[in-house]
Amino acid sequence: MKPASKGSNARTNVAREEFRSRVLPLDLPLFITREHHRIHLVGVAGSGMSGLAGLLTELGHAVTGSDKVSTMETERLQRLGLRFYGQHRAGHADGAELIVFSSAIKSDNPVLVAGRDSGKPVVRRAEALAAIMRAKRGIVIAGMHGKTTTSAMTAHVLREGGLHPSHYVGAEIPILGTNAHWDPRGEYFVAEGDESDGTLRCFHPEHSLILNIEEEHLDFYADLAAIEKAFGQLIDQTSGTVFHNIDDPNTARLCAKSKSAVSYGFSENAHYRGINVELRDFASFFSVYRRGQKLGEATLNVPGEHNVHNALGVIALASELGMPFDKIAVSLCRFEHARRRFEIKYESDRFLLVDDYAHHPTEIRATLKTARATGRKRVLAMFQPHRYSRTKALRREFGRAFDDADRVVVTDVYPASEPPIPGISGQTIVDEIVNHGHRAASYQPQFQRVHCDIGNALDVGDLVLSLGAGNIHEQLSILAADLVIAEKLKAIVGEEGDVRLYEPLSKHTTLRVGGPAQFWVEPQDEKTFGKLIRFCRDENLPLFAIGRGSNLLVRDGGIRGVVVHPRGGDFAKIEVNGFEITAGAGVKVREVAYAARAANLGGLEWMEGIPGAVGGGLRMNAGAMGAQTFENVVRIRYLDCEGEPHVKNRDELEVFYRRFPLLENNFAVSATFHAQPAKRENIDSRLRESQEKRRTTQPVAKSAGCIFKNPSSIPAGKLVDELGLKNSRVGNARVSEVHGNFIVNDGGATAADMLRLIEQIKSAARAKRGIELETEVEIVGEPG
Ligand code: EPU
Repeated sequence: MKPASKGSNARTNVAREEFRSRVLPLDLPLFITREHHRIHLVGVAGSGMSGLAGLLTELGHAVTGSDKVSTMETERLQRLGLRFYGQHRAGHADGAELIVFSSAIKSDNPVLVAGRDSGKPVVRRAEALAAIMRAKRGIVIAGMHGKTTTSAMTAHVLREGGLHPSHYVGAEIPILGTNAHWDPRGEYFVAEGDESDGTLRCFHPEHSLILNIEEEHLDFYADLAAIEKAFGQLIDQTSGTVFHNIDDPNTARLCAKSKSAVSYGFSENAHYRGINVELRDFASFFSVYRRGQKLGEATLNVPGEHNVHNALGVIALASELGMPFDKIAVSLCRFEHARRRFEIKYESDRFLLVDDYAHHPTEIRATLKTARATGRKRVLAMFQPHRYSRTKALRREFGRAFDDADRVVVTDVYPASEPPIPGISGQTIVDEIVNHGHRAASYQPQFQRVHCDIGNALDVGDLVLSLGAGNIHEQLSILAADLVIAEKLKAIVGEEGDVRLYEPLSKHTTLRVGGPAQFWVEPQDEKTFGKLIRFCRDENLPLFAIGRGSNLLVRDGGIRGVVVHPRGGDFAKIEVNGFEITAGAGVKVREVAYAARAANLGGLEWMEGIPGAVGGGLRMNAGAMGAQTFENVVRIRYLDCEGEPHVKNRDELEVFYRRFPLLENNFAVSATFHAQPAKRENIDSRLRESQEKRRTTQPVAKSAGCIFKNPSSIPAGKLVDELGLKNSRVGNARVSEVHGNFIVNDGGATAADMLRLIEQIKSAARAKRGIELETEVEIVGEPG
């Protein structure tokens, strides 16, 4: 093995060389398994380190540990006696007789330095683990992929077989209770062997189980030959049997040399062979043969062909240890997954959300294949690359790993203590996927937006997968929680109504800016709208109603809660009755003017100049051509905050310039306007006048109409003009050259750009003219 001489590994190697000279006089197996000492673990929150802390505690040592983060595991261990420090301080080494450190710890860590300086023995995690294993009959599970699942399966099967194995596995294993356990009653110790840092060579097990060998961890190993050398040493140091996957060429070649080898797999030559494999949704069924003789049928309740393969390895091992096949089969059938291994986060007939730890191209391909086999319509994947070094080394393989996904969103790289490599990011992988010919791959550099990209693309029948060894599962959990609410909303609005997650509000505002709506809902009738109001009240969800989004500036972080868009159905109805016109909240104000014209009614021509819907027009008492909405309103119908309908006549309503307080907490359903009989040519000429005014004084670009209310002293547009601010800009937000009270989006502007420009105008008006401008446009939502 030739460790690459760079970065943190070089530093870690220094630490290892240091400890060697210190530890030699110490009989580590004796020290750890027969005596009781004070032991300090540096980096105790790591998934492997916490297991070790648990074992050392169970062995009766006084264990202390330091880490910059605390986890549920460290909290559990504290209840069992671990003394935990949330920082690394040199003083922690003072009382310790042995210091154990994780591979993620740098050699300048103060506890490590203090331990070395004071001449204490300092050992790596795997060294301590190997020493513990010496006290039992060790079984090491090694390989690039499937170690955690297979070690958990082995420990589970041996446990059900009454062998009382001790175990050490690198993740939380619900079915085993904990990630590590010392059972004084049993002879065997099952451990997951980590090849990533070259410590496989610490183990001298009785048996080993080799799952697969290929290029991985190229930050540590120079090439495949170096990796094979590390596995070769483990094989040589195995005193009993080497169980190995015969279907993996590298493993088969390497293990063939072993004096006592037992093979497993699908191949005809396997000592333990699986055939007739049937994958059904989340279970697999297969027949098992030993040296050509049928042992029986097995069922596995974890999905994927690769897990059938892993189970064959466990069957071979347990059988050779003397466990009868029937017993093995029963316990395999009861086996449940480790956390983050095809873990179902949400399941219904409509959607399936699954989290998986896959972070190597081979694992990704296997997981996507399993996802495909569930028979759902589409597979949407969110992938978080893990480590810059792996992203760089395996970029081509990653590009080819996503063929089974219909859509892929890639986040930035999860560094796992690595410094960035210039030019390597999530985009690197997207480029490779696209070069490979996949059409639906995109890069999302804002981690907290990943669930939005996938959630907004979600359709009935979809399976969503989160893939990666970092924290991508958090994004899936957010999606799962929101999906629960979205499904309830869907039940309320029924088949006709629409519910969408994370709908970009830039699609629904005339300004074309704004982040996503957490829940976008389009009810079709008043009764449903009322139910939505009550649901939001009961669930403590904010509710915001949006019409055509013409007078709205939504911040880049979008709107939390439910955004109701009453557009179709009852809300789109318009009726003329004598001199009165009743229009639903979703009707365009402009259409009211044209409905009046069709009935030879006049007085509403000014409405032609309002770009919004009736609901919004009422809400802000919109105006044009010197007229305003409530001059023509006879009555309105609205829902209160309990979802109850009310009708109010004009004289019961309090209305101001561009402000109608009642609709600040209630929701418009419809309004009735009055008009007067008029000659068609008079109506047409007034409509033309309004159109002409718009055409000549207002920009055609994307805007939210007038940004500021007109101050009493001067129209805002004129003021901005006089201040010389036309065409001033922030990013792609620009003050229109046509009208000073319009800010236009030149394409791709953000809400932050808009808000900054608004602030600049306000401060100029304040400083130069002493005028306090007030925005007319409604500004809502969360900062981006
Ligand atoms: N003016 C300038 N420079 C400019 C813009 C305007 O000197 O860049 C002058 C105009 O020449 C005019 C005066 O300012 O003498 C007022 O301008 P305008 O007639 O265009 O009307 P406004 O007060 O700016 C109002 C409404 C508009 C509506 C128009 C047309 C407000 C805040 N604005 O604009 O409504 O379309 O009248 O009727 O009340 C909206 O509410 O979003 C909106 C666009």
